[in-house]
Amino acid sequence: MFLAFAVFYVICGVMHFVEIGTEWHPAGWSGAIIKAVAAVMAVAAAAVLWPLIPVMLQLPSRKSMHEVIAQLEGEIVERRSAEEALRQSQAILRELAAYQEKIREDERKRIAREIHDDLGQNLLALRLDVSILHARTSERHPNLNEKIGAALGHIDTTMKSVRAIINNLRPAVLDLGLHAAIEWQVNEFRRLSSIECELTMDHHGATLDDMQATAIFRVLQESLTNIRRHACATSVSIDMRTDGRQLWMVITDNGVGMYPNDRRKAHRFGLVGMAERIGMLGGELRIDSAPGEGTVLHLSIPMRAHGVPDVATGMGGDAVIAPLPARQT
Ligand SMILES: Nc1ncnc2c1ncn2[C@@H]1O[C@H](COP(=O)(O)OP(=O)(O)OP(=O)(O)O)[C@@H](O)[C@H]1O
Ligand SMILES: [Mg+2]
Repeated sequence: MFLAFAVFYVICGVMHFVEIGTEWHPAGWSGAIIKAVAAVMAVAAAAVLWPLIPVMLQLPSRKSMHEVIAQLEGEIVERRSAEEALRQSQAILRELAAYQEKIREDERKRIAREIHDDLGQNLLALRLDVSILHARTSERHPNLNEKIGAALGHIDTTMKSVRAIINNLRPAVLDLGLHAAIEWQVNEFRRLSSIECELTMDHHGATLDDMQATAIFRVLQESLTNIRRHACATSVSIDMRTDGRQLWMVITDNGVGMYPNDRRKAHRFGLVGMAERIGMLGGELRIDSAPGEGTVLHLSIPMRAHGVPDVATGMGGDAVIAPLPARQT
């Protein structure tokens, strides 16, 4: 390549010397002939150099361009199939999560029922017997009567604990419908936290199935627990509306609000679990929050009668914990 350049430059230089020579000593045709030879050689040198231009400019040749394009096309196909595989595995995971959630709720229900029907009934029978003993020993065996009275107290405490365990596993009030369960949950929240809590619900008449009602109830439960644990709020409002096709719930607190990283804390599953539950029902969950500005949780689900994806098939929609949006005022 350098040799070709050198030849080209030498020819150009010779041409200049010849031109200078013919200017000083015009010698008829000899100058013109030399010029013509030099021009032909220059064109030949240019033709030899032509394919080197892209190399000099570091442009890829047509062949390598084709190779690069083919490689890129291969990578695009690979990436598309990887994306498809990822989508499928996410759908399977969601299906699995929905299935596990259903099993967990069923299991909670079963354990609650067994505790109630077995342990609860036995405790009740024991209490009846002990209270009869207590009544019969009151006059003739005062010492024994005192001990039986204490045993009665223990039985009552145990019965209260059993009732609390059953309620934690699955609040019996859920069987009376979502509205009753929410009212119960809000009263519990008021009792345990002394935070002012306003509840507004409309009653469109449309009912939710057990799966939907349980999911909404659990989301509310987690949300109120979070408010008690993290928000330092003085007031909370819960607004639930339905139009027969869709259900919306908004839970607002005036607490300390959340930092962006709060949503992705390691080993914290409350918010993730909420999003997962709502996603399984084909709904949406959004959290608007900023430090010092409280937290607003919006959720909506389509009601089952109007084509909510079935959990049995796992074909739920996406509910994601959205990145912090600008605080809505
Ligand atoms: N209403 C709220 N106000 C302020 N911060 C909140 C609120 N809700 C959640 N947070 C923040 O978001 C974080 C994540 O909440 P999340 O419910 O996922 O986990 P957690 O409550 O810490 O633990 P758990 O897994 O037991 O629920 C909390 O640790 C808290 O910092
Ligand atoms: Mg939590």
